[in-house]
Amino acid sequence: METKQESCRLPRNGKRVILFPLPYQGHINPMLQIASVLYSKGFSITIIHTNLNPLNACNYPHFEFHSISASLSETEASTEDMVAILIALNAKCVVPFWDCLVKLTSISNVQEDSFACIITDPLWYFVHAVANDFKLPTIILQTSSVSAYLAFAAYPILREKCYLPIQDSQLEARVIECPPLRVKDIPIFETGDPKNVDKVISAMVSLIKASSGIIWNSYRELEQVELTTIHHQYFSIPVFPIGPFHKYFPASSSSLLSQDESCISWLDKHAPKSVIYVSFGSVVNIDETEFLEIAWGLANSRVPFLWVVRPGLVREAEWLELLPTGFVEMLDGRGHIVKWAPQQEVLAHPAVGGFLTHGGWNSTLESICEGVPMICQPYLGDQMVNARYISHVWRLGLHLDGNVERREIEIAVRRVMIETEGQEMRERILYSKEKAHLCLKPGGSSYQSLERLIDHILSF
Ligand code: UDX
Repeated sequence: METKQESCRLPRNGKRVILFPLPYQGHINPMLQIASVLYSKGFSITIIHTNLNPLNACNYPHFEFHSISASLSETEASTEDMVAILIALNAKCVVPFWDCLVKLTSISNVQEDSFACIITDPLWYFVHAVANDFKLPTIILQTSSVSAYLAFAAYPILREKCYLPIQDSQLEARVIECPPLRVKDIPIFETGDPKNVDKVISAMVSLIKASSGIIWNSYRELEQVELTTIHHQYFSIPVFPIGPFHKYFPASSSSLLSQDESCISWLDKHAPKSVIYVSFGSVVNIDETEFLEIAWGLANSRVPFLWVVRPGLVREAEWLELLPTGFVEMLDGRGHIVKWAPQQEVLAHPAVGGFLTHGGWNSTLESICEGVPMICQPYLGDQMVNARYISHVWRLGLHLDGNVERREIEIAVRRVMIETEGQEMRERILYSKEKAHLCLKPGGSSYQSLERLIDHILSF
């Protein structure tokens, strides 16, 4: 891996790429990682970001940053309704994004580089129309798995066949149109107006179909069947599965929250594979009951745990105040709780033997690449599909798919950390880890896809 100083000295190829990340951690990390990959291949980089969750430009002195105002009200920005936020963001960013491109393309005449394309998150569904006005091709960066995308793209048929809205009596039924999913694995979002989910998904799929290419944070060895399906469905659009991205460049410099390094010295005191790491990513919210069930499940398992409780994770709580008095003292050092962790370093630490996760796609790939088996507790969207694949297709972890209950958590933690079943998962995931590393090496599938991607962008 190149250091920042080394990559700054690399020669430029005269082409500039504009990247537009969605302003959420799970979307920012892969976009900044791909920006660093393209920079290391000679492209100049312009990042357009919003004043909602703005990026720290100081961590990327070799990139050009332009901020646009998303103008969300405080209520709009703080709602848990992700679908409503997406619709508001797409509506409010059109004009500022357009203005920004006017500014950029007018100064491009005096710059050395010519603009090649815009790489955008597919949830910025307004971008293609604007990019067209500037005659700029759009490439999509898919931050979720191919499997999850296929489930989203199947939404119209799932509605037509009456799988949606989901009926409680049907949860265990198989979705014949989307194997291996059951009804309870269909990606869903809690939202005020369910019609909005269809609106966002259909806009996203249209954007993808109109694009000049799709970059996937995945790799052929992991999602071979699903990538073949995509090739058949979108045969005229070039597809570039070049993941896992974080193996090229880590996510720490694009972290919106500061990472608590005390995790590492705490892990240093523990035996190999003895600690369960617990984190639910950057957007999940849980209620007080779930929080307490998780706390007691972890405590009762008697397995040492490192738990990320992000401020805002627990609804109506600042941080840990809902824990019973004396809970932390009772653990007697067996638990360490932080607000945000250096997750990739944590997963790579020899003391970590399991990951209780929401099944976000970045977390999934990071865990596979470090050979850490997972216990998935999915909450929304693609997490449901990822959990199904982790547990039933790749068999790299367990799936907690009922209510969050302390006894279930305790049992799952012990199954993965102590019992033979966990050891078998560990062996399988070590094999997957090796494949993930090999695909990035010269001649590997992602390596070759990256070479094709570079040629593709240079051809614009
Ligand atoms: C969201 C969605 O929830 C997820 O399902 C989708 O695939 C991407 O967008 P998020 O919930 O944040 O993402 O989860 P995830 O995809 O796992 O991304 C979280 C990122 O934050 C990871 O790169 C992880 O390394 C990082 N992280 C997480 C930290 O750096 N520190 C932490 O303490 C926790």
